[in-house]
Amino acid sequence: MSFGPIRRTGWRGMRQLHRRCLRQPVFRTLAGSVVLCDSHLARRALVDVDGQLDHVPAFWRPGGVALPPAVCGALNRWVHRTLAAEDPDALAAITVDQLGAARGDLHRACLHAVTEANSGPLGLDREAELRATVSEFLDTVFHSMLTGSRRRADHGAFQRLAARAGTTLATSAPPGFPELDPAVRGEVYLRAVTAFVGASSAALTWLLCALQSPDLVAARRAADPTATRTEAAPEHIALETLRLWPPAWQHRRVVLHDHRIGPLSVLRGDDVVVPAYALQRHPRYWPDADTFDPDRWSRLPSRPEAFLPFAVGPGSCVGAAFEVRWLAAVAKHLAAAAPIAMTRRGTAPCVTAVFSAPEHTLGAG
Ligand code: HEM
Repeated sequence: MSFGPIRRTGWRGMRQLHRRCLRQPVFRTLAGSVVLCDSHLARRALVDVDGQLDHVPAFWRPGGVALPPAVCGALNRWVHRTLAAEDPDALAAITVDQLGAARGDLHRACLHAVTEANSGPLGLDREAELRATVSEFLDTVFHSMLTGSRRRADHGAFQRLAARAGTTLATSAPPGFPELDPAVRGEVYLRAVTAFVGASSAALTWLLCALQSPDLVAARRAADPTATRTEAAPEHIALETLRLWPPAWQHRRVVLHDHRIGPLSVLRGDDVVVPAYALQRHPRYWPDADTFDPDRWSRLPSRPEAFLPFAVGPGSCVGAAFEVRWLAAVAKHLAAAAPIAMTRRGTAPCVTAVFSAPEHTLGAG
């Protein structure tokens, strides 16, 4: 089982890719992947009007297998409808409250804070058994996936938890959850948990580092660091956090038909990779690219072409707009709350399919 394209790239490999992208925007790796660190080519490839690529999103695939398109469609529609009924500001207030009371491991704290905020949509407030299953999923399978603490995802544990969720959902599903074949119901539900909680908690780890830590990870502060906490617009803080530390740090698509992309020929079966992390720090698109400067967003005309934290085109994130509003609201509530004490335990960020902050302990003064 995989959670998508987990290559054991690690932080070192990710930085190597970044450095290569700085020298050469479009190239083929030794492993044969075609890397597009050119905003125009990257967007054109992902939007894919000619149907040259397979759009099955690889990023959130907890079961490691592609679900039938009809099932994915049902899940996406449910997520879409559910988000439309939610207030990002209210969810952010719950998240920040939970974080204020949390102690210990940062990643675990963020996973649980985001889950708690989403307990209504996920049906956890009505069903204790579902809550226990989700907690175990997050604490074991998902946490190790986020931090890279296990060499391989625990296939057996995932299957067991998916089966347990499936049984509970037969009698008590969250509001509006699609009617599905019992064989996939639990897996789809854990996929929904992953969508609601996964990348948001990774983004939250980075937001906390940006706003609560004295020193940034792989970035510099703008001239006046206090401005960030008190003066910058929350939406700009959210966008700048997603620019410098995108949880989905690369988007991959498999090529269906031979064709040309810019200077390269790509062949059926090749991987096309859009390196969001490198693109969003490329000096060609971003002045002072490694500086955390939320105010830069007030100088930009609209969403810049080289900003792709949620991918684009078929298969891209259905939660993108909600996520930006939620993360902005979290920044706003954090600025008004008591500072959260954090002690850094690891020096390197966690890099798997997801890019999240180095390990920290919360609550240590
Ligand atoms: C910072 C937070 C988030 C990031 C970085 C993110 C990123 C992404 C990306 C990159 C994809 C496409 C995968 C690919 O192109 O291979 C995706 C898909 C998806 N995202 Fe998000 N996402 C975030 C938050 C959310 C939230 C809050 C939700 C909903 C509650 C959500 C729901 C989904 C769903 C359902 C899909 C699958 C779309 C499909 O199957 O067609 N995401 N996300």
